[in-house]
Amino acid sequence: MYVIVGVTGGIAAYKTVQLVRLLVLDGHEVHVVPTDDAVRFVGIPTWEAISRHPVTTSVHDDVARVRHVALGQAADLVIVAPATANFLAKMAAGLADDLLGTSLLATTAPVVVAPAMHTEMWRHPATRHNVEVLRSRGVQIIGPEDGPLTGGDVGPGRMSEPERIHAFATTLLSPREDLAGLRVLVTAGGTREPIDPVRYIGNRSSGRQGVAVALAAAERGAHVVLVAAHADAEVLFQARAHSRIEVASAPTAADLAAEVRARTAAADVIVMAAAVADYRVAAASDRKLAKEETGGEVTLRLVETEDILAALVRDRRPGQTIVGFAAETETDAAALLERARRKRRRKGVDLLAVNEVGWEKGFESPQNTLMLIDAADEVVATVSGSKRDVADALWDAVLALR
Ligand code: CTP
Repeated sequence: MYVIVGVTGGIAAYKTVQLVRLLVLDGHEVHVVPTDDAVRFVGIPTWEAISRHPVTTSVHDDVARVRHVALGQAADLVIVAPATANFLAKMAAGLADDLLGTSLLATTAPVVVAPAMHTEMWRHPATRHNVEVLRSRGVQIIGPEDGPLTGGDVGPGRMSEPERIHAFATTLLSPREDLAGLRVLVTAGGTREPIDPVRYIGNRSSGRQGVAVALAAAERGAHVVLVAAHADAEVLFQARAHSRIEVASAPTAADLAAEVRARTAAADVIVMAAAVADYRVAAASDRKLAKEETGGEVTLRLVETEDILAALVRDRRPGQTIVGFAAETETDAAALLERARRKRRRKGVDLLAVNEVGWEKGFESPQNTLMLIDAADEVVATVSGSKRDVADALWDAVLALR
């Protein structure tokens, strides 16, 4: 395949060298098109050596072969990595003042963009808007990831690792549509049970794992309904932007139960990844509790919420696959397995995804480890990796069951 790798002026350009190498090793014809700024970070000789093709930045080079449009016309895939905030703005505006700009306007191939910038720039409304515009035109955005940035700050902004971009590019060059036609319902995030109008009982779920499950399914061809309790805005943003994901929000356990109930009949597979509160405040106050009135002590009476998963299993229709999640703090492997098997049986699910959690483990991290237990109480897989990798393994297991 003919792949164009556009490189714009960010320090992450050094990682793109590895991306180009991986694509070349796969046997693709790779043409690197850097911007003038990009070659201040990684020079033309590097790109030429690694891609084994001549590299230019200007529309005035190789004019005889009309290279400014020929590259884009020939491409099967265009990847821009890293994409700076400035370049996203140029793309959104359709500017074409260099070879990468003209190539992007001349192509009808899928375009993948891997942004890299500081968190503030990524969160700026201008960048948000540009990303929305690009997505609405079908451009696929990969990352940015959460983690340490070059200035020593931490947050979303790191370019996705070259291996991840490569894997994504590979699926586009030979799309895996093994979930095509499947209707999937995924819940994600943590519910918040009100105490009064400003306070709640909640949990630490960021929604990352559940949203990764939804995204993996959508990218593999499924139609996905994502019922989201409270989740990190950054994480939900990705799901909302996907054309095959419909997002419904459900702040409390009762809302989640209602949303799920309304949508179960249409689902072939239901994945309950949400951290649903087991208890809610029996009588939430409709006015803010004030110290003046409570006098030194407050007692909250908690009552059990509806077990949504239990109801799903009870009312399941034939052919429906139901997956539950269990976050456990047990650290002894044998005891964890026993506990997980008991829970699997109690819940009656087809698959239980178990993850060990603790203050330092599971939550707020892009990584996760899941143990998958099937209806015969067998551990069908234990997977560690990015929440996305783990999500793909979960879908592999679901497919194997069906
Ligand atoms: N769940 C649910 N409704 C609830 C609580 C939990 O559907 N009210 C679902 C979760 O989405 C998850 C699964 O049940 O898929 C496991 O929840 P968990 O709280 O671990 O199960 P419990 O039976 O409450 O066990 P424990 O006493 O260990 O909390």
